[in-house]
Amino acid sequence: MTEHPNALPDSSPWARLAQQRDALSKTRLRELFDRDPERSQRYYIEGAGLGLDFSKNLLTDDTLEALLDLARHCRLESRREALLAGRKVNVTEGRPALHTALRHPGGTDIRVDGVDVVAEVHATLAHMEAFVSSVLDGHRTGYTGQRFTDVVSIGIGGSYLGPKLVCEALQPFDQGKVRCHFVANIDGTDICETLRGLNPETTLFLVQSKSFLTQETLENSKVARDWFLNAAGDTDHVARHFMAVTANVPEAEAFGIQPNNVFPMWDWVGGRYSLWSAIGLPIALTVGMHHFRALLAGAHAMDEHFRKAPLGQNLPVVMGLLSVWYNNVWGAETHAILPYDHYLRSLPDHLQQLDMESNGKSVTEQGEPVATQTGPVLWGGVGSNGQHAYHQLIHQGTRLIPADFIIPLVSHNPVASHHADLFANCLSQSRAMMAGKTLDEARAELAAEGLSEDDIERLAPHKVIPGNKPSNTLIMEQVTPHTVGAIIALYEHRTFVQGVIWDVDSFDQWGVELGKQLGKGILPKLTGNGAPETAGDSSTDALIRRFRSAHGR
Ligand code: F6P
Repeated sequence: MTEHPNALPDSSPWARLAQQRDALSKTRLRELFDRDPERSQRYYIEGAGLGLDFSKNLLTDDTLEALLDLARHCRLESRREALLAGRKVNVTEGRPALHTALRHPGGTDIRVDGVDVVAEVHATLAHMEAFVSSVLDGHRTGYTGQRFTDVVSIGIGGSYLGPKLVCEALQPFDQGKVRCHFVANIDGTDICETLRGLNPETTLFLVQSKSFLTQETLENSKVARDWFLNAAGDTDHVARHFMAVTANVPEAEAFGIQPNNVFPMWDWVGGRYSLWSAIGLPIALTVGMHHFRALLAGAHAMDEHFRKAPLGQNLPVVMGLLSVWYNNVWGAETHAILPYDHYLRSLPDHLQQLDMESNGKSVTEQGEPVATQTGPVLWGGVGSNGQHAYHQLIHQGTRLIPADFIIPLVSHNPVASHHADLFANCLSQSRAMMAGKTLDEARAELAAEGLSEDDIERLAPHKVIPGNKPSNTLIMEQVTPHTVGAIIALYEHRTFVQGVIWDVDSFDQWGVELGKQLGKGILPKLTGNGAPETAGDSSTDALIRRFRSAHGR
């Protein structure tokens, strides 16, 4: 499926794409816009309340057709069907990847091993609803009868990044009843700084771990429990203050969490796709269950768009194929996510896990080495801050870095002319990437400033901006629960589309296991008594000795 472009007959989609690249290398985006006044309409599509302008990409109708052919060649439509129907698309773990069922409004029957998962999801939503309202209306209290004022969510990876992103993104919808805090890192500073200033009598803990085996989450939860018991004294009070979201109920119980305080997770939900499940409790506690349901509705609207829209007008399909185009045919190694909205500042972090854990793979589903590059490095940050930092490299560096600009048309905070300023910054960046500045333009600019001929010749090359750098612009009316749900679901499906082209299992993550295994072996060498055995190499051994000596061992 992922044969290398150069090894193929001219008729293959990869070879056609290589030809497209050669043809487009001789032209410039500026010319494509000049030649076609309709270009911005031609390459603009909508779905689930989002609009995608992909006209500033290195493509023509022929390119798009070749990309869509590649998708058909890789059986994207039937693989999409398999994903949405709950077939075991996570082949190495023999599981479906049914995050779409988590946001399904019901009235359908999706079965996993004979069990109707939509019914289970809706039962859990009802449980969440009852819990959230009991906390927010003050019926559920801490051990001294006081209302909860603070919620500490302890989890890492998918049990952290998604809920944190959405809580920040939906700050304008905050019900103001509880403050949510997030602890992820095994660096003790995270939990210590979070607990500092909190009152154990009014703090609720959510232990968020699908496996309930993750070291960071368990160690932080133990510290939280000790901190709590230091004040509360009686271990019976743990049941009132500690909830869990997990698929591993026995371990949660062993920790001291009562079974009726455990919200379920299912093995058909991957961690990085889990914010739509009870892992989203911090979101529901912050913005209320009605807004959490609106978030699910936005994601479901994107699922339906992904399911039904023709491939060429399908946002996740087009964005996924464009990513493949730059990655595999133009040699781009990274992709920038640039949200021009302060509320979406953590989107790059969440998408990093989503995309890089899903598609950071080197073998196909069949276990054969892949023939092309797979997942690119995703990175980015909030605009306009990045313009005064890494955008220099995007504009004048030697690498090709495709970018996604993400911006709402209307701000929640229409102070002074800020939103127009922000919008102007966003457009100026995508236009600068696309149009650049030629040597002649640089010379003319310097001449207009009155510089001497010598200075013009000396400075002009430094002022050239190559341009021809591709970008997408994703717009929405405003950042709302619905649009945030749609954006995240869009990127989930975009990730899947790429994985289909590369023929990798986008739903496993074996690569993270080695570090975990080795960590278990190294820890006792750091903390144990007596000279430790070698860890296997002199560098690791020397660093272990330095650590031990700093701790008097
Ligand atoms: O280490 C990677 C990972 O397995 C992620 O996929 C997952 O989201 C995270 O760890 C946390 O796992 P858990 O929810 O089981 O604690």
